[in-house]
Amino acid sequence: MEKIQLEQNIALIGFMGVGKTTVYEELKQMGLPGVDTDSLIEEMAGMPVSEIFAQFGEPHFRDLETQAVCKAAAMQGGVISCGGGAVLRRENVEALQRTGKVVLLTATPETLLERLQDDDTRPKLRGRKITQLMEERRAAYEGAAQITVATDGKTPAQICGEILEAVKNS
Ligand code: S3P
Repeated sequence: MEKIQLEQNIALIGFMGVGKTTVYEELKQMGLPGVDTDSLIEEMAGMPVSEIFAQFGEPHFRDLETQAVCKAAAMQGGVISCGGGAVLRRENVEALQRTGKVVLLTATPETLLERLQDDDTRPKLRGRKITQLMEERRAAYEGAAQITVATDGKTPAQICGEILEAVKNS
């Protein structure tokens, strides 16, 4: 496979389960350096995301997330996989937009419900209606996005192709 190089970063945002990690892995396979903010947070805290929420609460997690986002945004020409709530803070969005394009991945509620129904690793889903949380976040996602790619029925390779084309033309 031909390796690609970019001048700016690609920051993947979107709701849990939309496929950010899969697309992130695919873009890394194509030769891009990458940072996954949740993995960086887990490294910083020395524990899984669910444990950070349980022991220290969401505000602490969000503080670590801002640090992780800023670190990731300092990369050049890489791909950043952002946790689903990373766009809730304006400063995170600004950091991502300063050094790259913010790409929103979307999927229908049906697709997401199917992917997330048995998930017990995501603390924000506990006791919550997925559709309600999606609705609450819609404005934040749409406000942050500079490029939007619908993922339903597409392969990771197709999605990456669309992203790269859109970034090239932006
Ligand atoms: C969260 C999404 C998760 C993770 C944390 C909080 C959210 O990331 O950052 O559990 O608030 O949407 P993924 O979107 O990668 O699951």
